[in-house]
Amino acid sequence: MADTIFVLNGPNLNLLGAREPEIYGHDTLDDIAGMLEDRAQALDLTIDMRQSNHEGHLIDWMHEAQAMGAKAILLNAAGFTHTSVALHDAIKAVATPVIEVHLSNPHAREEFRHISLVGRAARGTIAGFGALSYLLALEAAARF
Ligand code: DQA
Repeated sequence: MADTIFVLNGPNLNLLGAREPEIYGHDTLDDIAGMLEDRAQALDLTIDMRQSNHEGHLIDWMHEAQAMGAKAILLNAAGFTHTSVALHDAIKAVATPVIEVHLSNPHAREEFRHISLVGRAARGTIAGFGALSYLLALEAAARF
């Protein structure tokens, strides 16, 4: 069976495509899922893509990823990136490697985005390349 990569998306990312497109681009989350699935097929991987506006869902899904033996988690925690000790702890709590992903480059934006509690626990971070950030993260995860 192909290894599974969980792709977890946090708050407001369900609005991608319509939400501040000058920052986040015109691709919807479904567009990104399609891109990832195409590439995953070539890499003999399976994508499990999810989105929630609720912090606890993201944490439960990280536990689930570990329990089902997922190869890696790509995590765009969106606004929770900068605030969530619980997500930071969840990344540390699971053995599954987590790659932090962002469409925009938070370091080039408002100061409150310069701190990432996710990034302090993640294996690595890919940010600033729009939808391509997800694909680059998948390339990294495929090599774990
Ligand atoms: C984001 C960056 C975050 O700062 C922001 O809160 C988001 C999206 C990104 O993908 O660029 O919601 O994670």
